[in-house]
Amino acid sequence: MTYRNCHASAEGVTSASRLAKSQPTALSWQSRGMDFEKLAQDRRSVRGYKPDPVSKELLDEIIAVATSAPSSMNTQPWHFHVVTGEPLELIRAGNTEKMMAGAPPDREIRSHGGYQGVHRDRQKEVAGQLFEAMGIGWDDKDQRRDWAMRGFRQFDAPVSVVGTIDRVLADSTVAYFDLGAAVYGMVLAAWERGLGSVINGQGISQSSVVRAHANIPEDEIIVITVAMGFPADEYAANDVQSRRRPVDDVVTYVGFD
Ligand SMILES: Cc1cc2nc3c(=O)[nH]c(=O)nc-3n(C[C@H](O)[C@H](O)[C@H](O)COP(=O)(O)O)c2cc1C
Repeated sequence: MTYRNCHASAEGVTSASRLAKSQPTALSWQSRGMDFEKLAQDRRSVRGYKPDPVSKELLDEIIAVATSAPSSMNTQPWHFHVVTGEPLELIRAGNTEKMMAGAPPDREIRSHGGYQGVHRDRQKEVAGQLFEAMGIGWDDKDQRRDWAMRGFRQFDAPVSVVGTIDRVLADSTVAYFDLGAAVYGMVLAAWERGLGSVINGQGISQSSVVRAHANIPEDEIIVITVAMGFPADEYAANDVQSRRRPVDDVVTYVGFD
């Protein structure tokens, strides 16, 4: 797979990243839209990584882009705990131990349980694409368990970004919306710099493990993690392009002729 938007290496920070620190520029209607459209449509989840470290400078830039997201009343209720090295290995080991022991999910956010109906159908479609790419048989329980365990290990990515919100806003659905907006900016900014990522609910399904090893303060709620790193070459799952519902299917226009 090729990463045409690759502007950075493990060592270097790039010109594109000046975006995060530059002064606001005048809007040009001619140039708006094109690059963003390509970025948004090219991005996909990455589930195989090189072990190469990611520099704090590069991560700072990515988080600067993420935090340019809008939020309700500009409350910016998010925090990002960027974990690597020993603490991340301890999280992986703790998650693996609990999942292998059959521990029930231990999340700090409300869960929907298993998907049903059309949502289950879409879940199965992308799982089928990933299994096919990885040569995993739908009925092969061992292979499927190994794949699930990779997910709980956050796909062995060198970095895990744990996204939290302020606990005082725990009952505010809008705070989770705000964090989601920032996380989308994060995954786009990562891709634009040649990094891959996957938003990874599996990584926080044992949130007490994450809380302990990432040292998350009590006044924050763990919502999500994003696995991140340089994409492995020749990792088939990284080439999977998930399908989207057509615009006709998701939009209802009101008041148009
Ligand atoms: C909230 C959220 C949680 C996710 N959790 C996982 C996960 O635990 N494991 C995984 O492999 N992918 C996870 N994903 C990635 C989705 O499967 C992926 O975004 C979706 O299939 C669309 O594919 P794309 O990202 O390649 O466009 C998650 C995505 C979101 C937004």
